[in-house]
Amino acid sequence: MIKISPSILACDLSELASEVSRAESARADWLHLDVMDGMFVPNISFGPGLIASIRDRSKLVFDTHLMIVDPLRYIDDFYRAGSDIITIHYESCNNQQAVLEYIRSLGLRAGISIKPATPAFVLEPLLDYIDLALVMSVEPGFGGQSFMPETLDSVRVLAQMIKERGLNIEIEIDGGITPDNIAEAARAGITVAVAGSAVFRAPDIAAAIGALRENAGNTEIPADD
Ligand code: DX5
Ligand code: ZN
Repeated sequence: MIKISPSILACDLSELASEVSRAESARADWLHLDVMDGMFVPNISFGPGLIASIRDRSKLVFDTHLMIVDPLRYIDDFYRAGSDIITIHYESCNNQQAVLEYIRSLGLRAGISIKPATPAFVLEPLLDYIDLALVMSVEPGFGGQSFMPETLDSVRVLAQMIKERGLNIEIEIDGGITPDNIAEAARAGITVAVAGSAVFRAPDIAAAIGALRENAGNTEIPADD
């Protein structure tokens, strides 16, 4: 079953606590938290203070996506804020393995993300150090962009590498996911889908999450090739 991780980037931040409750009542699996520093990406979103402010309001898995330069500087802060998963960007530092090992040493799940133009094979040496691989299906920085279908090639490559190595690693896709394209992503091998606009801008959040989940499940198991 594919998990749905709504991104609060698309919610009404003036009503943050109730937006999080709405997502939880609508049976979201995780909550996706997009942290942007204005350096790694050309946008600034929010930091650990905002995440800490909603930690006590929700039992959802806090799925923190760090789009920041040199993320090791802030892992402690996002740990203390209540993250369950911390995902860093492959392109954001040179010490990826050390950062991933540090995240795990805190008892958290560690993830690594690639931008659309970064080939998936760069993650091969890091597979033993991750619990999650995040494939960006838009250029990181903004919600509400259109899904780039060519990024599903990276999902396929990762799914194959993970299967060959017999590892248990979530494959998450992020950017432009809707009920219309989630089936294709599911067939490619994702296990988690982030959805910002498709959830928080929908008139009925529960229906939106239900449609994503249902369309993701209505897929054939990909054949081995
Ligand atoms: C983009 C973020 C995404 C984005 C998803 O940099 O990482 O999580 O908010 O939003 P939608 O689903 O609207 O593309
Ligand atoms: Zn994200």
